[in-house]
Amino acid sequence: MRHLMSPLDFSVEELDELLDLAQDIEAHPDKYAHACDGKKLATLFYEPSTRTRLSHEAAMLNLGGSVMGFASSDSSSASKGESVADTIRVISCYADICAMRHPKEGAPMVAAEHATIPVINAGDGGHEHPTQTLTDLLTIRNLKGRLNNMTIGLCGDLKFGRTVHSLINALVRYTGIRFVLISPEELRLPEYVRNDVLDRNNIPYDEVVRLEDALPDLDVLYMTRVQKERFFNEEDYVRMKDFYILDHTKMKLAPDDMYVLHPLPRVNEISVEVDKDPRAAYFRQAQYGVYVRMALILTLLDIRVD
Ligand code: NCD
Repeated sequence: MRHLMSPLDFSVEELDELLDLAQDIEAHPDKYAHACDGKKLATLFYEPSTRTRLSHEAAMLNLGGSVMGFASSDSSSASKGESVADTIRVISCYADICAMRHPKEGAPMVAAEHATIPVINAGDGGHEHPTQTLTDLLTIRNLKGRLNNMTIGLCGDLKFGRTVHSLINALVRYTGIRFVLISPEELRLPEYVRNDVLDRNNIPYDEVVRLEDALPDLDVLYMTRVQKERFFNEEDYVRMKDFYILDHTKMKLAPDDMYVLHPLPRVNEISVEVDKDPRAAYFRQAQYGVYVRMALILTLLDIRVD
């Protein structure tokens, strides 16, 4: 049985296959409409979500399966003090696969250890968010036609942004990748990612504070929200939240073929005027998230469609 805790749980070849499958699903959705007939997905969300929960559910429904779950810990027995280990043992009796989001780093790993069904990490604290990474990889591959030889700008809250940590983990396995890390001093990429992932793999990167300085050189700009819920005090959040605002004027500094990605939700970091720019790819990215999660569910349930 397989789980998805980190993008590294798949080899590069397996990832390529998964992205190929997602592309085939996009092209021929009817072929997959009954692939999961009779199967159930449980979504166990102990932390807020719109896209991740609903795109997992949409993915299972598109495959002919059904969905159940909870959208906050208040409405689950966690509020009575039940452990993740006990909850997952029980959910394993009800569902064929589950997606779990939890504010505590490592909680989905604990679930995977006690589960008899595949567990998908749908975001654990400030740690990882592998299904967002699958979405990001599919988006980049579809828009740029490749996943290698690229300069990727990561901008915003690189400290708490789990989507950034997972995306870096995944991209360092491709050749010719260079990062520009764009953040205020206080929200720099954690040292463990810089040392254990970037330095260990000899990945070139620059750290800059000004977005304007980075823009002219980028193939992809990955914007992120300042992660309010991970701050210890409101004052620091308020000081940081509008540090970056990508607008029409800044977009003039960027190459014509530089796409803007964002895992969403957006707060103020991308002005709505950028939405009309053909390089704004964040809503397309959300659509790719459904195809890639369909491919993931099929892969983890080991269901093949000819
Ligand atoms: C991200 C997350 O939850 O980490 N959202 C998402 O799943 N698309 C990014 C964020 O909340 O800022």
